[in-house]
Amino acid sequence: MDLFLKAMKGENKKSRPPIWLMRQAGRYMPEYRTLREKYSFMGLCKHPELIAEVTELPIKRFGFDAAIVFSDILLITETLGCELHFEEGRGPVITPIESVDSLVHHPVVPSMQFVMDGIRLLKERLQVPLIGFAGAPFTVASYLIEGGVSRDLKKTKRWMIENPESFHQLLQVIKRATIEYIQGQIEAGVDCIQLFDSWAHVLSWNHFEEFSFRYLQDIVSEFKKIPIIVFCRGSSFFYEKLAQLEPQVAISLDWHCDMAHIRKKLPKTTLQGNLDPDILLAASREQVVQEVDLLLEKMKDDPAFICNLGHGILPTTPEENVYALIETVHKNKI
Ligand code: CP3
Repeated sequence: MDLFLKAMKGENKKSRPPIWLMRQAGRYMPEYRTLREKYSFMGLCKHPELIAEVTELPIKRFGFDAAIVFSDILLITETLGCELHFEEGRGPVITPIESVDSLVHHPVVPSMQFVMDGIRLLKERLQVPLIGFAGAPFTVASYLIEGGVSRDLKKTKRWMIENPESFHQLLQVIKRATIEYIQGQIEAGVDCIQLFDSWAHVLSWNHFEEFSFRYLQDIVSEFKKIPIIVFCRGSSFFYEKLAQLEPQVAISLDWHCDMAHIRKKLPKTTLQGNLDPDILLAASREQVVQEVDLLLEKMKDDPAFICNLGHGILPTTPEENVYALIETVHKNKI
């Protein structure tokens, strides 16, 4: 079996750790930038052949140990009746919702057939496992309420605090759509699912339990047979809670914690992470090698470790640093 799925099961003994990067198919790659001169981001996301082509770019170039379907966590908002587009330099723009009643619920799989078709094409072509993904309900809700990228989620938190009941209704609608979406991706052939709760870090402990964790738990308990990775910004303080999810769930850690410390606290859970994306962006080759060696030393001989960043790779990251990272991990054979 390949390194990635072995590590997901905690069985990657006597080998180097697997490596892949969140956002590995993106703007730091010249091939991606060339494709973007011809197609819009949504144009790429909605075309099965292009989904497959972009997903494969970083596998062919860098030899990562897993591929992640090229898509976006916000596409599902269209199946809820929202208008979504991506603006150059600004990111996603959604007409903000004022109440749960503004949402409709179209069947997700037929509406997102292009993703399922992309996955099927990839399964015929790829030599490495394929990761499907979805946004966690809290994070998707925050984009629906804010209407796009926001600094501090003030509108979302105000709604959540002032009217927790309707906030829960909103999370339930998103959760149901998310479960359908994940089901579709599994039927199409993905080997693993990653859930992205990118905004969980703005929540207090109690609010995290009530508005984020509970929904992660509901989703994860629907899919006991497939390996799942949960990524939260904030996982370095929520990790003990996250470890209460089903046993097949791995935790993707942000870069604020010491992986050796987390391993002591969670001896069995598969851990993914946690290099600072700014290291890859700004450091010299020597510094990258030094940082990666430090992390690998902490996780030496760990059968349940997946090397990754603590968040997505940044758009202007030099490719030389990605090569330096991968070469350092590949050297780490016993
Ligand atoms: O990891 C991969 O290579 C798979 C593809 C992927 C994208 N987005 C492609 C993308 C994945 C897994 C995502 C997840 C995603 N999308 C998250 C969760 C992860 C995280 O970063 O916290 C979030 C919050 C989004 C929403 C989103 N999409 C934002 C806020 C933006 C604008 C900011 C930015 O990075 O440009 C996007 C756009 C986006 N999603 C791009 C890509 C390649 C850039 C589009 C482009 O201009 O070409």
